[in-house]
Amino acid sequence: MIDPSDYVVSDTRELLSPSLVLFRDLLEKNLAETIRLCGGPDRWRPHVKTHKTREIVQRQLELGVTKHKCATLAEAEMLAAIGVQDILIAYPLVGPNIRLLSNLIEQYSKVRFTVLVDSPELATGIGDLLAQRGQQVSAFMDLNSGMNRTGVFVGPAAIELYDLIVNSPGLAVAGLHWYDGHNRQEDFEERQTAVLTGWEHFTKFRDQLLMNGFEVPQVVASGSGAFAILAQTEEPNLELSPGTTTLFDADCNERMSELNLRPAVAVFTRVVSHSGGRRVTLDVGHKSCAADQPAGRRLFFPSIPDAQEVQHTEEHLVIETSAAGDLEIGQGVFAISRHICPTMALHETISVVEGGEVVDCWEIAARNRRLKNYAARSEF
Ligand SMILES: Cc1ncc(COP(=O)(O)O)c(C=O)c1O
Repeated sequence: MIDPSDYVVSDTRELLSPSLVLFRDLLEKNLAETIRLCGGPDRWRPHVKTHKTREIVQRQLELGVTKHKCATLAEAEMLAAIGVQDILIAYPLVGPNIRLLSNLIEQYSKVRFTVLVDSPELATGIGDLLAQRGQQVSAFMDLNSGMNRTGVFVGPAAIELYDLIVNSPGLAVAGLHWYDGHNRQEDFEERQTAVLTGWEHFTKFRDQLLMNGFEVPQVVASGSGAFAILAQTEEPNLELSPGTTTLFDADCNERMSELNLRPAVAVFTRVVSHSGGRRVTLDVGHKSCAADQPAGRRLFFPSIPDAQEVQHTEEHLVIETSAAGDLEIGQGVFAISRHICPTMALHETISVVEGGEVVDCWEIAARNRRLKNYAARSEF
């Protein structure tokens, strides 16, 4: 249940709209609960893409969460710059991105960077360039968990690829990566069965590698839908990599209702027009809230639970509600995004609220493909 009393700011007069607001107590509860569900801070490798802020990573470090995951090189650099020592770049690196990785390895020589490899092209592309530069990076082999996005299918080609990684001078084998992000079924039992069926395929393949004399030092698996299920398995050296659980969102809240987590970020928006009858217009267009969810299902309004989204354009959202007559022009409303990760990337900063007061403003530092200071550097 999303409780409107969780999203209160005593004085909103100076809050810009649309803007993001982080409710610190909810963030703290989500961090503590994710660590508990993972089985300890050393079993959580959070994906930073959800929030992209230095301050939340710093808080995770304080809580003992030392291994992190990211998708972009800007996220990797942000993590390294604030002292994270173990960074998995969970995105296939091709083209000039391999050179940028090599530059990061040189610049942050004490950091352990790891990458994902799911094809011979990636293995040789990354391995050869690093070897030419006298460097090495650890690589996880990315397996296709049934999500059919990236990852090599389990089978003989995967064993050959693992062998290629082991024998590449520019690569050191880190283990296996299994991201089953498609397992987001609303019915918990259905999701659990799908997660564990997939996991059986995974463990059979892992055992095959071991029988062939390979080592599998680490396993990184899953996101918000599956991590708590896999945390119950006996897999040794398992790290779980949910990202969304840090901030949570309206979609996860609906699908993963078994988790004791709450959306910690709201979009603050204001009524800008009365558009007739039961309709009002808010200033939360899709430049301030992710539009990757189907139209009509992009936001949830805790204080207007019957709001129906009827028109969403760049700067405007028209809603229909029985409360239209009570909503005044200029009135502020909190909205929970159904997909928080891309929503965060649409904003430069986020206001931080503690005890109903705005106490800080954090930069969403890795929202761009490059950190701001990249442009000034000739080597990039
Ligand atoms: C490779 C990878 N790992 C982990 C995550 C985190 O998953 P979730 O957002 O379900 O927490 C994602 C999310 O897209 C991902 O792509």
